[in-house]
Amino acid sequence: MALAIPYYPVNEFGPLMKGLVIGGVGILHVFLAQFAIGGGMLLYYFEGRAQRGDADARKFVDGYFRVLVLVSFVFGALTGVAMWFTTIQVGARTIGLMVDEFHWLWATEWVWFSIEVCAGYAFYRFGSRLDDRARRSLLGLYAFAAWMSLFWINGILSWQLTPGGWLDGNGMWAGFFNPSFWPSLFFRTAVATTLAALVACVVINTMDLPRERKAELIRRASRFAAPIALMPIFALWFLAVIPEDSRTWLLGGSLPMTMFVGVAAGASMLIGAYVIVGIMIKRLTINIATATLLLVLAFGATAAGEFVREGARKPFTVRGVLYSTSLTPAEVAHLRVTGATVGDPYPLRDEARYPTAQLQRGAKVFRVLCDACHTKHGSNSLVELVRTWTDDQMRLNIAKLQRTKGFMPPFAGNAEDVEALVQMLKWEVAGTPRSWPASADPAVVAQIARWLDEVGTSPMGGR
Ligand code: HEC
Repeated sequence: MALAIPYYPVNEFGPLMKGLVIGGVGILHVFLAQFAIGGGMLLYYFEGRAQRGDADARKFVDGYFRVLVLVSFVFGALTGVAMWFTTIQVGARTIGLMVDEFHWLWATEWVWFSIEVCAGYAFYRFGSRLDDRARRSLLGLYAFAAWMSLFWINGILSWQLTPGGWLDGNGMWAGFFNPSFWPSLFFRTAVATTLAALVACVVINTMDLPRERKAELIRRASRFAAPIALMPIFALWFLAVIPEDSRTWLLGGSLPMTMFVGVAAGASMLIGAYVIVGIMIKRLTINIATATLLLVLAFGATAAGEFVREGARKPFTVRGVLYSTSLTPAEVAHLRVTGATVGDPYPLRDEARYPTAQLQRGAKVFRVLCDACHTKHGSNSLVELVRTWTDDQMRLNIAKLQRTKGFMPPFAGNAEDVEALVQMLKWEVAGTPRSWPASADPAVVAQIARWLDEVGTSPMGGR
């Protein structure tokens, strides 16, 4: 083969598709890690007040808020590792490319992360024995290092969606400071401080203080949620710099995505309105139930936001360079000629399930080309999507996959692969009978080949 396409071991996640598995771990991680950042800033601020004689602030800093920060950066770290563990199983090649391109920047991120962990732990463990200056320095260092690890990882992650000048060969820094770098950094920073404010409202409510003094602490903590007012600006900025086709899906082109945008925006607006109008302007008190409810809303908004960000990249994991199927555009063209399965060294786990070689081939084609975003019977079930379709409808739509939906990559196989996949799907729709006729009509294959030629191998969206 002219191109050595690396085939990594394949994993199956049952009815969950790969994207959902990453999404689930990712959302938890982002929530915890962002809280750990904002929590550090909030502690730093309250420690300053405590040192100037505010006894309630002292009580707050020494209470269990700091335990929560500790727990969240420990779990943030663990889920972070879980995240890489999951992503290398699902998209080994994407992670490989990221490591290749950003090796030292990634190392830099890890250095900041280590500083964050050391400073945070040192404060937690030895804070009570240190003098004021040392305490504040340690907290300042913790908060800054936590934010710096966001700074560095944000460049690498935003590069996936908007590689920008990196695509024109302008190198690592152009990729790092890519078009969506600043809006997503500001957005995430605002989320981090807001989360910290909301958790603080819950914690303060549990403190043994008179109502008035609690209200005073809450008013101070809720200032950290004020940046939420700027979030619409960062969100619009983000929308403005992402690729045109991604933007159109978010804004109505793909209703599930649009709905998640709506959920994220709606939940953030509710939180913002409550915090700014209710707590800061009208000086309402907030009880533990309301604070918890707002925090849950914030979790929902984070989850929806991450879903949208990940989804907006389709059909790529690195825009313009690597498809969600872990193939490059050049490899797609190559596989059109050789067929999708010739180089795939892995047998099917459920090979015996398929009564004929053609159906087995169809299942393999499905595994290499579709199962990044579809399952057969679970989430985004391919069998359900085509259940009502005629044979030719399937052949045409799969051959012209990138035109069927612009967020799917071009079909990376030959006409026999399309037909094998169509037969496999028909067989599944028919309820997996024990015998199934081979489909070998040369006219059918020739027609599919014409469709494949017509549609070509370019993706629909530009950059
Ligand atoms: C990058 C992710 C991705 C990949 C890879 C992918 N799809 Fe899809 N596909 C989607 C999404 C998202 C939808 C939309 C589902 C919906 O509208 O409910 C979809 C929809 C479809 C539909 C229904 C289209 C319609 O208009 O109703 C078919 C058929 C389909 N895909 C076939 C395939 C086949 C066959 C493959 C593999 C050769 C594949 N897809 C690979 C993401 C993908």
